[in-house]
Amino acid sequence: MNMRIVARLINLPENRGVRVTTAERALLLVRVGNQVRAFQAQCPHAGAPLEKGVICNGRIICPWHKAAFAVDSGAVVEPPALLGLKQYPVQVHDGVVSVGDEPMAAPTPTALAEDRCFAVIGAGAAGTAAVATLRRQGFSGRLLWIDREQAPAYDRTALSKFVIAGEMAPADTPPLLDAMPSRIHGEVQRLDAHVKRIELADGRHFDYDAALIATGGEAQPLDIPGAVLSNVFVLRSREDAARIDEAAKSAACAVIIGDSFIGLEAASALRQRGLVVQVVSRHQVPLAAQLGKRIGAAIRQLHEDNGVIFHSNTEPVRLDGHGAVSTVLLKNGKRLAADLVIMGVGVKPATGFVHGVDKAEDQSLNADSQLHVAPGLWAAGDNVTFAWQQQPTRIEHWRVAQQLAVLAARNMLGDTQVYADVPFFWTYHFDKTFEVLGRAQQWNRLHVEGDLQRHAFIALLCHDEQVEAVVACEHQQAMARLSQRMQQPLGKAEALAIIRLC
Ligand SMILES: Cc1cc2nc3c(=O)[nH]c(=O)nc-3n(C[C@H](O)[C@H](O)[C@H](O)COP(=O)(O)OP(=O)(O)OC[C@H]3O[C@@H](n4cnc5c(N)ncnc54)[C@H](O)[C@@H]3O)c2cc1C
Ligand code: FES
Repeated sequence: MNMRIVARLINLPENRGVRVTTAERALLLVRVGNQVRAFQAQCPHAGAPLEKGVICNGRIICPWHKAAFAVDSGAVVEPPALLGLKQYPVQVHDGVVSVGDEPMAAPTPTALAEDRCFAVIGAGAAGTAAVATLRRQGFSGRLLWIDREQAPAYDRTALSKFVIAGEMAPADTPPLLDAMPSRIHGEVQRLDAHVKRIELADGRHFDYDAALIATGGEAQPLDIPGAVLSNVFVLRSREDAARIDEAAKSAACAVIIGDSFIGLEAASALRQRGLVVQVVSRHQVPLAAQLGKRIGAAIRQLHEDNGVIFHSNTEPVRLDGHGAVSTVLLKNGKRLAADLVIMGVGVKPATGFVHGVDKAEDQSLNADSQLHVAPGLWAAGDNVTFAWQQQPTRIEHWRVAQQLAVLAARNMLGDTQVYADVPFFWTYHFDKTFEVLGRAQQWNRLHVEGDLQRHAFIALLCHDEQVEAVVACEHQQAMARLSQRMQQPLGKAEALAIIRLC
């Protein structure tokens, strides 16, 4: 193997990674004492430059969506990445650092002696993370991985940001794994938890020893006259996004019903492709329940500055058109022109097929802190209400769905893990990424560093002096550091010190 000189030890700081480029590739160099590790420089999730992230707690944290990798080995520790970093051999002689041109062999998992049959239902965020974990843990029994969607497991979050903006073809939606394990294509019609049996709509049936339900949610259309007209959409799957993309090609104006994260991402995407976009919402300030009024108002202002028109404190009463929708009539009497309508008003957990278990009022599956639903049955993702910090909790975030799935998969193998991380969420509007850490439920003080109006800020949502959640735009390093630190209770003064150091 050829070794190439890439750096001098003296030039490598201990607290952050450094990017170097050889003729073949970009590398991330990480120094620990007098030792140096070399990894691929880009995050395997969506390609973030890892030198822009941080190193803390023995982890490399990705700046974009906070995947974490072990500093020693590059092994993935937290999603959204599902693969570890490629590692390259390093030699340090007389303060000169050289790196080999071939990656080191990835460790192969020790196969667990196993004759059980596991089923994973769903190939979205949670299902794919569970399957990747079972593989990584060396599960060698029979694995049934079932999804009703034909497309390989893909990154749903790209749909509202890039696909309907016309920037990414639906078929190019990024896959979640490079090498996909084989999957059963079919709709699960019934899961009987008492007899541990899964039945598909086409008549096939399977018995399992342990199963994970990772079926997410179904976007709910509004039940109003005209909702069945063509060019009226919800947005959950790649097919939904492909239909919206197609309709948008010949559309001049769009109406978005609902000011949810997805509704507003859709408004941003369609506006950026040149449509007139109007958002109809029951609220004056979008996202106020999740982020508070000041931050919600700043996000609304960003949309208005880019030409989105809001109709607040009202709702649609009917959609009209001949075959295809052409207008939306609002409760306040206004009529809006619409070549296409997207309803972003909520999601219902996809659990109708599950029998013999306890369900919450919203039809999500009730699970304990280890995501255990019934004997031999676990759930993860948007469809589960689980015991977290003594509260029944349901969270609809991509990274959380994956984290829950990782621990459910481990628990299926006999572990007893509970969720001990910090919920993280990101959302993207007009080229600005807003990041949210934690869950602000009982906060009474807002501290803003930076400028909300310029969308360059980091805001602490506190209960008295205790940080409950952090919302930020353009503070990726501080958020990466806080994603680790907030795993323990964090006071405002220490949070501010961390932010000012970054
Ligand atoms: C357009 C869009 C953009 C988003 N953007 C973000 C974002 O930027 N950041 C963020 O944190 N979160 C985002 N989210 C939320 C995030 O995608 C969800 O929280 C996450 O996908 C939940 O994962 P899941 O595995 O529970 O469900 P899903 O990812 O929805 O996967 C469920 C899978 O189960 C399958 N399935 C359902 N029922 C059955 C059945 N009966 N039989 C067989 N298969 C079945 C479905 O086909 C699907 O493939 C976004 C969501 C959407 C829709
Ligand atoms: S690009 Fe690194 S976690 Fe998404």
